[in-house]
Amino acid sequence: MSDNAAARPTVKPLLAALAGERVDPPPIWLMRQAGRYLPEYRATRAKAGDFLSLCYTPELAAEVTLQPIRRFGFDAAILFADILLVPQALGADLWFETGEGPRLSTITGPADLARLRPADAIHDRLAPVYETVRILARELPANVTLIGFAGAPWTVATYMVAGRGTPDQGPAHRLMAEDRATFDALIDRITEATIAYLSAQIEAGAETVKLFDSWAGSLEGEDFDRYALAPARRIISALGERHPGVPVIAFPRGAGARYAGFARATGADCVALDTAVDPDWAAREVQKDGCVQGNLDPRLMVEGGPALEAEARRILEAFAGGPHIFNLGHGITPDADPDNVARLVETVRTWSADRR
Ligand code: CP3
Repeated sequence: MSDNAAARPTVKPLLAALAGERVDPPPIWLMRQAGRYLPEYRATRAKAGDFLSLCYTPELAAEVTLQPIRRFGFDAAILFADILLVPQALGADLWFETGEGPRLSTITGPADLARLRPADAIHDRLAPVYETVRILARELPANVTLIGFAGAPWTVATYMVAGRGTPDQGPAHRLMAEDRATFDALIDRITEATIAYLSAQIEAGAETVKLFDSWAGSLEGEDFDRYALAPARRIISALGERHPGVPVIAFPRGAGARYAGFARATGADCVALDTAVDPDWAAREVQKDGCVQGNLDPRLMVEGGPALEAEARRILEAFAGGPHIFNLGHGITPDADPDNVARLVETVRTWSADRR
């Protein structure tokens, strides 16, 4: 880690931060930065017809990925796709109920598992996603980093078991308790598919990849080690062997105290922090192991006001001693005001100048 505050990275700012450099001002992008809060996204989505068609039409998926880069000048673009494309490529039925969210065929026992395709058979279905990555690798501005992503096995399993989003991930916890062999085999299958999927994204041009474990917070004790830590470690180590030097961002949302040590235990180059994490605590306990990302409350992108700049500055200040990527603590919501996003970018980009 460099302690030279004025270091001007010769590489892209986001990759420099991921490599452990302190970048001033820190690079910024926002989770779900392409989405319904942008009128240009809604127009392209209408052209595609529905959300999944948008994900599987490379030219349109690339277009919505680029929209927030053009509008706000973020330091990173995240591939436009969804974590549920992997279950679909494994053979699950997937559709989106308007206004309600995703629906999938369920996994309730060994017979459902036996119907899934092998992990290495996912690529034909996912080929349009790799094509989106190739388009983006060509079209992105030189200073912008291209982020690929996948859901982490536990989070993906919660949707595959329940067939939908659930408040407490109850169905997955029940399958884990009642038929551990099936549950473990499912986690294994998703883990292998995720390695194959992220590897293909990297080969197509993704410069870093992020693992979204949105429901890691509902795993306790040994279950956290077994279903959040271990699969992340396995994915990161397999990617490290195939693609040395490509950094990985892990997002074990809701991990609380277990954010401490997560990077060391999994090999992640950066840990993304959710809104509940105290930045001063994370600066001491998490940032000492490498880059952190986060963690402004997405509510501030709706409400704006003086709290927006005050909170952003509090986070910038807390993480100023080491590598930091500015982001929200969770995805931006459809009711966010694009003007608040522009104010946030301005606040982050002018922050060190303000301090001097
Ligand atoms: O961040 C980005 O801009 C990249 C694209 C991206 C999407 N989903 C697009 C999307 C990413 C990285 C995701 C991740 C994702 N998808 C997660 C993990 C992160 C998180 O938010 O916790 C999860 C759990 C999903 C599954 C999913 N996809 C749900 C539960 C929903 C419905 C909820 C909603 O916001 O409507 C989706 C749909 C979805 N994925 C949308 C977008 C832009 C909205 C679809 C639309 O246009 O109607």
